[in-house]
Amino acid sequence: MRVLVTGGAGFLGSHLCERLLAEGHEVIALDNLFTGSKKTIAPLLGRTDFEFIRHDVVNPILLEVDWIFNLACPASPIHYQYNPVKTVKTSVMGTLNLLGMAKRVRARILQASTSEIYGNPTEHPQKESYWGNVNPIGPRSCYDEGKRVAETLMMDYHRQNDVDIRIVRIFNTYGPRMAVGDGRVISNFVVQALRGETLTIYGDGSQTRCFCYVDDMIDGFLSLMQYEGEDRFEPVNIGSCDERSMNEIVDCLGDVLGRKLDVTFKPLPENDPVRRRPDTTRAKERLGWSSKVSLADGLARTVDYFRKTLKM
Ligand SMILES: NC(=O)c1ccc[n+]([C@@H]2O[C@H](COP(=O)([O-])OP(=O)(O)OC[C@H]3O[C@@H](n4cnc5c(N)ncnc54)[C@H](O)[C@@H]3O)[C@@H](O)[C@H]2O)c1
Repeated sequence: MRVLVTGGAGFLGSHLCERLLAEGHEVIALDNLFTGSKKTIAPLLGRTDFEFIRHDVVNPILLEVDWIFNLACPASPIHYQYNPVKTVKTSVMGTLNLLGMAKRVRARILQASTSEIYGNPTEHPQKESYWGNVNPIGPRSCYDEGKRVAETLMMDYHRQNDVDIRIVRIFNTYGPRMAVGDGRVISNFVVQALRGETLTIYGDGSQTRCFCYVDDMIDGFLSLMQYEGEDRFEPVNIGSCDERSMNEIVDCLGDVLGRKLDVTFKPLPENDPVRRRPDTTRAKERLGWSSKVSLADGLARTVDYFRKTLKM
């Protein structure tokens, strides 16, 4: 297959490009390098089966490909709130442009959606049938609502134009190549711990998340892209079900590092969800997917990566 990965120089995109190449596909990574970096794909740049295109998905482009993975969008709050209008444009115009391309060249397209489309959920755990509880006018709305419209566009292009779509609802994912200072929980904690700093917990640390290791997430993307069941156009949650409070994550990281970590508490940001856990029955039943890497193992691999990157 010739495969286009938008957001290919980002955290998840770079892992996906690597995996696709390992499976024998030809890969084009497209990215405007807003939050991504050529460093993440540096080892791939000389290969004849890999190409990098610097391009912004808000502008149309036409490429002859078989598969499109649309991952282009800043994912961490500090990045997507930096220019909220641009974030909406990236999700809405970017997805429109790629759907137009998919229709024209008859490519299969997978949209990277998010657990954020459930907002601050009133149903727990969250099934794909849950419509969500999202603030349309808050500081997180540019991301949450942008991704909701992206899902709408995917379904409408499918119903109206028979485009072959897949929608993955990604829950918190972590691992090597997360950007230092991107404000995400695991990278923040690991970087602060390695620098010998006090760890910052927002709120009282009782809020929960489930963290999925990146390799498991990429398995999920590929399984969904290749899934041929009749129900293949419906969204699928991919994420770990191992629900942990922020305080528990700090304890687990302390175990990995073999020392007790100091913490300081700061106010919780506006509209930050209190609990988050996917119902992954659909992923299990349809794709045979479940997460495999434990939090302790995943944290140990992430610590190794940041040790090398920060030269600690
Ligand atoms: N990592 C997670 O926990 C998580 C959770 C839910 C959803 N997602 C989704 O997965 C995708 C990848 O996330 P990530 O964690 O790798 O984030 P990331 O910020 O590392 O990667 C996003 C990439 O998209 C690129 N990009 C942003 N705007 C663009 C534009 N207008 N045109 C072209 N490229 C653009 C960035 O430069 C970056 O390389 C995103 O769509 C995100 O919303 C991620």
